[in-house]
Amino acid sequence: MIERPKILVVYYTQTGQLKRIIDTVLGPLQDKATIVYEELKPLQPFEFPWKKQVFYDTMPETVLDRPRGIEPLKVNPDEHFDLVILAYQAWFLSPSQPTAAFLHSEIAGRLLKGKPVITLIGCRNMWLNAQERVKSYLQKAGARLVGNIVLVDKSPNLLSVITILRWSFKGKKEATKWLPQAGVQEKDIIESVRFAEPIAQALENKQWDTLQSQLMALGAVDLLPNLILLEDRGIRAFRYWSKFISAKGGPGAPERQGRVRMYRGLLLIGIFVLSPIAKITSVFKLALNKSKLQEDVEYYKGTRLR
Ligand SMILES: Cc1cc2nc3c(=O)[nH]c(=O)nc-3n(C[C@H](O)[C@H](O)[C@H](O)COP(=O)(O)O)c2cc1C
Repeated sequence: MIERPKILVVYYTQTGQLKRIIDTVLGPLQDKATIVYEELKPLQPFEFPWKKQVFYDTMPETVLDRPRGIEPLKVNPDEHFDLVILAYQAWFLSPSQPTAAFLHSEIAGRLLKGKPVITLIGCRNMWLNAQERVKSYLQKAGARLVGNIVLVDKSPNLLSVITILRWSFKGKKEATKWLPQAGVQEKDIIESVRFAEPIAQALENKQWDTLQSQLMALGAVDLLPNLILLEDRGIRAFRYWSKFISAKGGPGAPERQGRVRMYRGLLLIGIFVLSPIAKITSVFKLALNKSKLQEDVEYYKGTRLR
């Protein structure tokens, strides 16, 4: 009897959105492969819905890559897998803390070494910087990134900021008279089933070289050039504020809450006042720097690490 290929899926999800994406993409693979799920569980859960101050207070350690610990994994680190799927979401332009905690762990090094890995991202729309960090961890672990699938909220940028904050703080995802539903569009989740076929083929032939180009041909990564510019600005500001806030103490420290409040106010001004300005300047930058930006778009769509 031919043994079925084995897939390990490592994931964390707060609202269940990412698990739905995983289940849709992997649905057709259920009877072709043995799939082992490893859900990452923070030692102290991140509460959902979030208290506002806690949400913003989570930024510094997320950006500085000092995640809260996770519970020990159930999977045997020496078990053989033919493919690892790392499903994660971006938090503050970085991998979410449970994802980062996994990547830091000794067991991740053992599980990932020499393995083909597909990253599966479900986020608002800003994931480039997070993926660069994940790529560099994978490289250090000796893993091979063979595919990247990204599902984002396709609503206009500022609208999706409003809906994600409403969802995060109030737990309300549904559309209103004025706002669309928060999160990745239902249709996009349902249609993500199309990525199963090239993954199944690659798994069967153990041939990973062309997987990402096949996934891209199916629209696995859709990237707006002006978001590259916005992320670049955003991550610089986050790095500055992370150091400034964490200089006053660790997560939740009363001494740093004044600084967290300052950053909270400025972040909202930054998003709602500066980001439309950034959008206009990006039009000029796009016109002047078109070939460089086009190069960046191609780079971020791929799996290579610069
Ligand atoms: C603390 C926090 C920060 C977030 N930051 C980002 C971000 O920088 N970029 C982005 O595209 N989405 C961001 N999101 C949205 C998440 O990536 C994700 O789409 C959402 O939290 C639902 O994921 P889940 O329920 O599967 O965990 C953030 C969400 C949270 C809770």
